[in-house]
Formats: sequence, structure tokens, C-alpha cells
Amino acid sequence: MTPEYKQMAGRLMVALDYPDVEKARKLTQELEGIPCYMKVGMQLFYAAGPEFVKELKEKGYSVFLDVKMHDIPNTVRGGSHSVTRLGVDMFNVHAAGGKEMMSAALAGAKQAAEEEDLNLPTIIAVTQLTSTDRSTMNEEIGIPGEVEDTVVRYAKLAKEAGLHGVVASPLEVKAISEACGADFYTVTPGIRPAGSRMGDQSRVMTPGQAISGGSHFIVVGRPITESANPREAAQQIIEEMMN
Ligand code: C5P
Repeated sequence: MTPEYKQMAGRLMVALDYPDVEKARKLTQELEGIPCYMKVGMQLFYAAGPEFVKELKEKGYSVFLDVKMHDIPNTVRGGSHSVTRLGVDMFNVHAAGGKEMMSAALAGAKQAAEEEDLNLPTIIAVTQLTSTDRSTMNEEIGIPGEVEDTVVRYAKLAKEAGLHGVVASPLEVKAISEACGADFYTVTPGIRPAGSRMGDQSRVMTPGQAISGGSHFIVVGRPITESANPREAAQQIIEEMMN
């Protein structure tokens, strides 16, 4: 494994969107040795709990806990303290919870990291979900204007709160980097390798396009999890990221 391959594999996050541990474990075994991130979202975390996160860490994977916290600051501080103690490498909160809530997430993580002598996890904010279109945002949620303006405003707020980056569409990366700087992390789902099925994603980029467009991490689910050969699919994606 070349250093370049290893470094790029560390920027691939595989979405373990499974209902139970057995299916998730099977995939991690198939990918064994590929130094990628594993993304554990609410479906798997609510079913498998902290034990499975610990198992992934013991296997040497980096873990992104995609639980999108959104609550009063004190509760988010507590949640953040708990997930940091689990040893996750990254987790997220909703920017819509406001600056005080995001700062509380950072404070909870810092406290746990100091108490347990752990690294501070990377904390990122969810801006406007890519499933929210302009009419939903304007008419249901009550935020006027373009979706991209809200995304950039939330990204700036996350930065002011001291968070490390945001989850965003790869098509929003340029605007976010311009507003928050190129070292403010962008974690981008909505990735489809050339020639693969779109599923329910509509605004997509290929792995190569996303990396050259400035994404720090790409999140890929079904093109790997639903592939007949997930290992090969993941390796091809890493190759594409390097080109
Ligand atoms: O299977 P697919 O590659 O579409 O999976 C994308 C992953 O990224 C899923 O876990 C999904 O929940 C997540 N995600 C997303 N769009 C967002 C935020 C998260 O697709 N805006």
C-alpha cells in the first residue's frame, strides 16, 4: 500500500447503513485492511449501540458517528461527552441548534478528551440537509432565500462556534471554502462513481470530482454496500480519488 493510497483511503467514509450488527460486521470484514473511515448512522447505532463502535475501533477503523445531535445546549454537551468517551474520531450536530449549542458540543468533547486522555474528535455541523429543497426550506421550515445561502450562513456559524467543518453537498464545497477557508472540513455524501446507480441521490459528483473540488472526506454508501464485490468497489473508488 503506497502512502498516497493510505492517505486517500483515510478520506473515504463508508456508510454502514444496515439494520443490524451482523450485516455491518460482514462488510467490515470484507474491507479489512483498507484504512478507511466507517460511518455509523442512527439506524445502526440505535440497533447496535456503543459496543459496535468499540468493535470498529478495536479493528483499527476510524469512526464517524453520524447521529446529528440537536437539543438544548446542556443535553448536547452531555451527548458529546458520551460519544467522545466512546473514542469516535468524528461526530456531528445540527447547525440549526445555534451557536451556543454547537459550542456546548465542543465543550463536552473537550472535557471528555481531557478526562480520558483521548484525542479531541472532529466535530462537524449539518447545514441544510440535501433532502431539503428550496420550497420546503422557504414554506415549511420558514427560512427565506436560496438553500446555498443558508448552507453558507450555517457553515460560518459552525466555524464561529469553533467546530471543525460541515457536512455538505459536493456542489456546495466551493462556496463553503470561500466563506470559511480551505482548511474548514467539508464532508460530502452524494458521491457516485462513474457509471453507478443514483439511488435517491440527485445532485452527485464522482469521487475524483469531489476530491479535486476540495472535499476533505467523501461519504459513500450503496455503491459499496450494494456491490457484488464491496472490496473491489472501495478500491476502485480510492483509485478514482487519486486521479
Ligand atoms: O448510499 P449513499 O452513498 O447515497 O449514502 C450516503 C450516506 O450519506 C447515507 O448514510 C446518508 O444518510 C448520508 N447523507 C446524505 N446526505 C446528507 C447527509 C447524509 O446522503 N445530506
